[in-house]
Amino acid sequence: MAILTETKAWQSLQAHSSRFQRPDFKLADLVGTQSGRFAEFSLQVDNLLLDFSKNVLTAETFDLLLQLAEQQRVPAAITAMYAGDTINGSEQRSALHIALREPPRSARFTEVAETLQHIDDLVTAVLAGDHCGYSGEALTDIVNLGVGGSDLGPALVVSALHHVRETRLNVHFVSNIDPLHLQSTLSGLNPATTLFIVASKSFTTLETLHNANTARNWLLARAPDEDAVARHFLAVTSNQQAAIAFGIKPNHILPMWDWVGGRFSLWSAIGLPIAFAQGMGKFRELLSGAHAMDEHFQNAPLKKNMPVILALLSVWYRGFFASHSSVVIPYSQALKLLPAFLQQLSMESLGKSVTSADETVRYHTGEPVWGAAGTDVQHSCFQMLHQGTNFIPVDFIVAARASTDNDTEAHQHLLANCLSQSLALMQGSVDNSNPCRNVPGNRPSNTLLLRELNAYNLGSLLALYEHKTYVQSVLWNINAFDQWGVQLGKTLSHELFAIIQGANAATISTTMMDDSTANLLDFLENWK
Ligand code: F6P
Repeated sequence: MAILTETKAWQSLQAHSSRFQRPDFKLADLVGTQSGRFAEFSLQVDNLLLDFSKNVLTAETFDLLLQLAEQQRVPAAITAMYAGDTINGSEQRSALHIALREPPRSARFTEVAETLQHIDDLVTAVLAGDHCGYSGEALTDIVNLGVGGSDLGPALVVSALHHVRETRLNVHFVSNIDPLHLQSTLSGLNPATTLFIVASKSFTTLETLHNANTARNWLLARAPDEDAVARHFLAVTSNQQAAIAFGIKPNHILPMWDWVGGRFSLWSAIGLPIAFAQGMGKFRELLSGAHAMDEHFQNAPLKKNMPVILALLSVWYRGFFASHSSVVIPYSQALKLLPAFLQQLSMESLGKSVTSADETVRYHTGEPVWGAAGTDVQHSCFQMLHQGTNFIPVDFIVAARASTDNDTEAHQHLLANCLSQSLALMQGSVDNSNPCRNVPGNRPSNTLLLRELNAYNLGSLLALYEHKTYVQSVLWNINAFDQWGVQLGKTLSHELFAIIQGANAATISTTMMDDSTANLLDFLENWK
């Protein structure tokens, strides 16, 4: 494949972009003077509206970006994903998370439907008290032990839908190997009424297994006998043998499959905590909302395809405006965990420097993603967005309807703040008398408006970002579905752990013992 930056579509965009780099370019003029701009550069899919009109974008830009998508064979890539082709080349796997949210009648894998039924049965049994704790009391608390994709997605959804939860169960998430995370969670819990989910596709992840063993010991220190483990532990994994060896009963182990990547897995049994917290009905609504976005992604033409548009804008800014990073600001306390989820989705998927053909890339891929809930973030990070030297496009996300009827005025303030920030970023404000007060403007943003924050719409929103990520990878010609880079740190941590435990450094490894690490180890020894 030709080098992306030397292709016709890229070169055309390069030439076209120079007009926006001129000092007299004003985004506000572009947006303000063009009647019908919103109609041209906005799109509704179900209960999601994307306004992308506040971008550095003309009809010609859009056309050139669409030519880039055609050139990079985005339509064929979408078809390949839906066909179950091996789009994760380095691991020789398909990436079929879309199959997890197909409606039961058209579901292509019977094991997906069976697993949903298994989840339903478990949740029903726990809620009815049929599956109870070692003392015979009904279970009250669920603790999910997982990290990365086995934590972030379900934690986000449980938090986002807390206001509409339909069960009495309290669901907690422990991911960090920092002992305080598990200890502080367990300190408020009764072992007789606590159920653990060991969520690990591999069942080899250090943090999760350590926390699972500690939780097991905590339980056994209080339970009458070892049988409590079988009663109080469930697992979600593709490594059934390891889960059984841990003491988990085979019918308490829910499957994971090679064709679902960790960061795309909240729709699988990894979503079990969602079903426990929100009920099976809400979990199915979440899947339906994601499926609606899947259908849109598969069928909409490129110029009306929401994930494709978001991906093209990101590649436009990264490639031609040297964008520093991408910010996601949910104006929603319920969505406060969305930036952390998107960080893994985007940065683990797109932080790659070889192409799918194993050639070194000669352009920037990926984008650092950060953000936090508005309005809080206005009082911490927004100064840099308004007057800093970096070019940082923003995604604003807000629900038209309030999540609670209790304070309409507060929700109106929330909406006003969201809209005013995108306006201020675009317009700026000239103050020639005092440069400190000069706000340059020209900062682009998207606004994603949800009709309301419910399970269905949240499913659509998360699927939107999943598909955006895939399209970005296609445009940049990289593999979105592997993560080889995280392995090295894991391996080295085993060796350093042995040294910290007292092993002689010289017997472990000589190559890694640089002056910095050796001295830090000395300090750790002296300060312990
Ligand atoms: O961070 C690396 C990673 O492999 C992620 O891709 C994954 O989501 C996470 O670790 C957890 O992996 P597992 O579910 O196998 O414990």
